[in-house]
Amino acid sequence: MCGIIGYAGHRPAVPVVIEGLRRLEYRGYDSAGVAFARQGHLHVVRATGKLAALEEKLAHEGGVTMTTCAMGHTRWATHGAPVERNAHPHCSNDGTLAMVHNGIIENFQEIKAALIDKGYVFSSETDTEVLVNLIAEHRKTEPDLLHAFAAALREARGAYAVCLMDKENPGVLYAARMSAPLIFGIGTGENFIASDIPAFLPYTRKVLFLEDGEIVRLTASGFEVLQLADLSLATHEPQVIQWDMQAAQKSGYRHFMLKEIFEQPRVIADGLTGRVSHGDVLLRELDALPVPRRLYIVACGTSYHSGLWGRHLLEHWAKVPVQVEIASEFRYRDTLLLEKDDMVLVISQSGETADTLAALRIAREHGVHVLGLCNVVGSSIAREAQAVLYTQAGPEISVASTKAMCSQMLMLALMALYWGRRKDSMTMEDRHSVLAVLEKLPNVLAEALPEMHKRARELSRKYAQARNFFYLGRGHCYPLALEGALKLKELSYIHAEGYAAGEMKHGPIALIDPTFPTFVLALDDDLLPKVVSNLVEVQARQGRVIALVNDGVDVKADDVWNIPSLPGFLAAFAVLPAVQLFSYETADYLGKDVDQPRNLAKSVTVE
Ligand code: AGP
Repeated sequence: MCGIIGYAGHRPAVPVVIEGLRRLEYRGYDSAGVAFARQGHLHVVRATGKLAALEEKLAHEGGVTMTTCAMGHTRWATHGAPVERNAHPHCSNDGTLAMVHNGIIENFQEIKAALIDKGYVFSSETDTEVLVNLIAEHRKTEPDLLHAFAAALREARGAYAVCLMDKENPGVLYAARMSAPLIFGIGTGENFIASDIPAFLPYTRKVLFLEDGEIVRLTASGFEVLQLADLSLATHEPQVIQWDMQAAQKSGYRHFMLKEIFEQPRVIADGLTGRVSHGDVLLRELDALPVPRRLYIVACGTSYHSGLWGRHLLEHWAKVPVQVEIASEFRYRDTLLLEKDDMVLVISQSGETADTLAALRIAREHGVHVLGLCNVVGSSIAREAQAVLYTQAGPEISVASTKAMCSQMLMLALMALYWGRRKDSMTMEDRHSVLAVLEKLPNVLAEALPEMHKRARELSRKYAQARNFFYLGRGHCYPLALEGALKLKELSYIHAEGYAAGEMKHGPIALIDPTFPTFVLALDDDLLPKVVSNLVEVQARQGRVIALVNDGVDVKADDVWNIPSLPGFLAAFAVLPAVQLFSYETADYLGKDVDQPRNLAKSVTVE
């Protein structure tokens, strides 16, 4: 997620903007830049790396302290490598306009091609540079910038929060939002626009939350919020923010982990952006690669659990045989029987996990195709894989991985659909019906999460004193059982074991007694009768049971937890937040450091 701040007021604007970007640093970024207009000249200064590098460059830029209107950006790369030419702000070819942007313009390639035909040239790989030149093109027929801006936005499809400035009107900023946050800060003799409240919180607590499809024109003395559709006035009641700075960086959530769990609907929506067209899946990154004869998925921890879940979809929909391996085992296997038509998929949120990176290098030595599934653009795994799919989940701040797994599962589902189409191993009707569910998923989850959180909180208080836990699942729920157990372990330090439910009678059931509760994933699928038998076996030995169920499941348990019903494998998208929230609430109740659990690192870059 990129950071944006725009300022028009009575102070030296560039320092205000730089400090605002510093307060957005927690969002993660790999480059930054500022723009301001002065004496008919557009000053744009950009640098890769941290803000200090940008400040170093600004020290050599004239007019920095003279301007009272500026905008700035920190970039979390989604399209294009994290290099200076891709850093924001981006300018129009004629040098009159500068823009900063957060989001993804789905149809930027088509727009770019049309602009190139009209003689435009591009120095970056970004969709932002395309958008700002589209505005310049519209300005040829629509001299009023607000109208040209609106016309261009109506042509663009996808998610954006943008801020625009024009060298001819140095004290004016324009902004607009569609499916990406943009907040307006109302000061006295000064106004702000930003991706998030911390950027301007020291100056004002009076805010307007812009809605999708709204466009803003702001100056030091005033502002107007208009409907993009017809430029009619939009009315908003300002709100007063009570948060302190830290709370604001968590958008009011108690921890980053909770914020990231609740970001999962947005993560799914962003993951689908630009990847579904005319009812089918587009994965351009995979077009040049053959569909593998056999796929090895190699990862660690939560990413390994994503791979175990993805195997079910890839085998069932794309008929690709899949072997899922723990990276630290794969890399030391003395005999790796990889063949030339095989492919290795390494999954890593950070893209820096040592064991996974080592596995990638070994796969490359064996001459097989190597694909990366990462969240961090430009990470080692992303650079060393032959091709890389980005999960576009935005920075994951909490050490415990939550939204990253959701985004990995989404990408694995899209891969299965994409290869299913290429192999013609799945009917178009089946593909379309799966996509229809995926496209509804953000709303389904957004609606269900508050109630899930409430139920997780209730149950966590009841079971928090347990010293041991089993998590049981079958089929595609087995990986979710493993993930639920990992989350409970790493957050609350309660020992938890994820197990294939059918394995209980092969020994582990000896552990069951009233002090050893079991979390059973009992969804309405073909394996339910078997899971119910395992649940009964646990109860017969006085084991307490939390049964996570969906519609149509009627089981007796100490506690039954109902979650939304989703068809087939996609039911896992409702199970995942439930087990995450249960662990989160248990750990928080026990007073643990939820975002920074003891002994853990966000990225395990050592063996
Ligand atoms: C997840 O909650 C853990 N913190 C950990 O298992 C993590 O998933 C694992 O270290 C892999 O990290 P990666 O996805 O960045 O490679």
